[in-house]
Amino acid sequence: MKKMIVMLLTASMLMALAGCGSSAPAAAPAPAAEEKKEEAAAPAAEAKEADDDEDDDADFTTVTDGVLTMATNAYFPPYEYYEGGNIVGIDADIAAAIAEKLGLELHIEDMEFDSIITAVQAGKADMGLAGMTVTEERKQNVNFSESYATGVQVVIVTEDSDIQSIDDLADKQIGVQLATTGDIYCTDDFGEDHVEQFNKGNDAVMALKTGKVDAVVIDNEPAKSYVAATDGLKILDTEYVVEEYAAAINKDNTALLDAIDDALEDLKEDGTLDAIISKYISTEK
Ligand code: ARG
Repeated sequence: MKKMIVMLLTASMLMALAGCGSSAPAAAPAPAAEEKKEEAAAPAAEAKEADDDEDDDADFTTVTDGVLTMATNAYFPPYEYYEGGNIVGIDADIAAAIAEKLGLELHIEDMEFDSIITAVQAGKADMGLAGMTVTEERKQNVNFSESYATGVQVVIVTEDSDIQSIDDLADKQIGVQLATTGDIYCTDDFGEDHVEQFNKGNDAVMALKTGKVDAVVIDNEPAKSYVAATDGLKILDTEYVVEEYAAAINKDNTALLDAIDDALEDLKEDGTLDAIISKYISTEK
């Protein structure tokens, strides 16, 4: 498992060194001949694009004009969760700040975690933002923005459990949220017979509470929220895997990827990102 940690870190370090994920070629300047053709059938939108050349962000498109559609799974506190009828949390606030920078209205779509990448690929959402870990496999299907947070896969057990380390998980039943990295790593390391998948992280935690599973592997911040809300559970003091969270964007929309990366960069520099994170995560344990 160490190897995977190193791989993830190396990948994110390389991304950091490269400055940004992928370098989208700038829209090719219209050759003179093209300009002449324009009078024939140039759609208004294309003419506008050419005018906006000096503004890098101007030529991205979104699923709905003027709207940034975010796909998430809103059962993952403190990144996204319901407060009354509203989805709030770190990702919701970051998305609102990005949307504001891009001059868009934010619309959040709640769905199963394992539908998010498909929604982005199918052009139903502009951006998956869901405490989503950057993995090589997911990169086959979507582009990832710069990372905006670090996550750690941790193990929740009952207070009286004999499980003390990751190695003690062999031969136990482990609850995970379906299609998350916790699911993927545990299935790899302990075999699918030892892994029980739940649609929501909290359902896995309830199964632990009622003795249906022996442990839950999930991201550290949701783990802290669940354990704080449930008697008799604790988080093991060992880090299973350290990961990077980023926004997932359709591979064809590199202009939007660049615009989101620029916005994230600004939000990091002007302190907004830190302010959002410390609004939801206290630094003391
Ligand atoms: N970081 C993990 C992953 O990417 C879990 C994310 C779950 N997020 C959520 N909103 N339910 O697989």
